[in-house]
Amino acid sequence: MSARPTRSVDPPILLVEDKDSLRAMLRHALEAQGHTVVEARDQPEAAAALRSARPGVVLSDLRLTDGDGFGVLRAAKELDPELPVIVMTAFGSIQDAVSAMKEGALDFLAKPVDPDHLLLMVERALAQRRLATENILLKAELAQRRGAPQIVGEDPKLTAVSVALHRAASTDTTVLLEGESGTGKELFARALHALSARADGPFVAINCAAIPENLLETELFGHEKGAFTGASARKPGKFELAHRGTLFLDEIGDLPLSLQPKILRALEEKRFERVGGTIPLQVDVRVVAATNRNLKAAVAARQYRDDLYFRLSVFPITIPPLRERPDDIPMLAKYFIDRFCRDLNKKPLMLAPSAVEELASYPWPGNVRELQNCIERAVILTDGDTIHSRHLNLSFRAAAAAASVDGSASPWAQIDLSGTLGDATKRVVAEVEKRKIEQALREANGNAGRAAEMLQVSYKTLTSKLREYGLDA
Ligand SMILES: Nc1ncnc2c1ncn2[C@@H]1O[C@H](COP(=O)(O)OP(=O)(O)OP(=O)(O)O)[C@@H](O)[C@H]1O
Ligand SMILES: [Mg+2]
Repeated sequence: MSARPTRSVDPPILLVEDKDSLRAMLRHALEAQGHTVVEARDQPEAAAALRSARPGVVLSDLRLTDGDGFGVLRAAKELDPELPVIVMTAFGSIQDAVSAMKEGALDFLAKPVDPDHLLLMVERALAQRRLATENILLKAELAQRRGAPQIVGEDPKLTAVSVALHRAASTDTTVLLEGESGTGKELFARALHALSARADGPFVAINCAAIPENLLETELFGHEKGAFTGASARKPGKFELAHRGTLFLDEIGDLPLSLQPKILRALEEKRFERVGGTIPLQVDVRVVAATNRNLKAAVAARQYRDDLYFRLSVFPITIPPLRERPDDIPMLAKYFIDRFCRDLNKKPLMLAPSAVEELASYPWPGNVRELQNCIERAVILTDGDTIHSRHLNLSFRAAAAAASVDGSASPWAQIDLSGTLGDATKRVVAEVEKRKIEQALREANGNAGRAAEMLQVSYKTLTSKLREYGLDA
């Protein structure tokens, strides 16, 4: 009879038992059936073997001289929550067996161990393990085939976003993704689609800021033949193309006012007409919108219809900027290093500790996209096996960022124009006053009387302003 083919690929069984005679007996029984066995006598040995041998099943006594089976169980589950663990208990300690199962043991064997019973249980555990592995591989393959993107990061703020995303994925509600440029809005929109029941349908994206106002309507809704000069054939719009799938309306904050009522109607009724058409079309589409503008402020400034805003923000998800989740920076850096090394056929590069530090303290105004670009450049520039600070070019970037804050680059980009004219003006005036006062104080070496003279205001006015701007400390 030939060897059973599945045996040779099965991982070993970790056998944890402190009594030599029993361990030898069990090992013998298992090996007779073609299993590979790794032995451990106590909890520390078991912990080491878990890591080095990567067993497919763990068989452990609950009472050990050093540590106990519960410790082995926890170590196994920590390494891999799906790893099957079978515990062995002395006759009469059923309570321990129940506790172990509550902590995640697959099953228990009462001593004295019946070898046939043991083999049956191990077979079952291995079969379950094979299925679980196949399942994981299948799911990953399916997700990849569907184009589910990988979202890297473990910061609680990002995890909260992922949880919200999973919740939204199982529904058909409109989702609004808000976040600064480069935070991953499009990535999350694609992930949402891949996680949803519409994953087999199309994901259709349109950037509302990139298309001229007069073309945007036909891009969204399509047009009939002859609808306008040059419309020589009927053309379907994005709403139609996204039927049974997801429509991603990127930069929705830049949607011109003139188009907003039409979008609102399409969102509410899932119905629209092609340009030049008279028959309304019905589609089954889930809409995901994204914006890096503060839509609420745009509504306040009457640049955005409030009814559309309310319709879009049924399920808002805000992606935090990278500087608010600094713990994700090293992880993202490593992910991008590995990816670019693979793309460029380079062997994996390491990051020098000082480089990690520099990455972690830089404010990343361009968020994950800026980090990604920075790493790509560094991977190309690095000749050795380690990326150092000099490859990152961050001191240069930091200087440029600081210069633009000082006002020597583009001051307008830094000014917050939200709210009413009064609000915005007051904010800007206050900022100018504060800076001017700080400058005068510096030049007067901190002498408030002299500074007041230079500014041509009364001493009393100056001291009250110092208090107002918190400069009196
Ligand atoms: N958490 C993440 N894990 C892995 N890659 C990420 C992550 N976040 C963003 N990225 C990557 O960073 C880049 C920028 O992300 P994306 O285009 O989704 O940002 P965005 O918010 O849409 O930016 P913009 O507002 O400028 O359009 C992409 O290449 C994306 O794959
Ligand atoms: Mg984007």
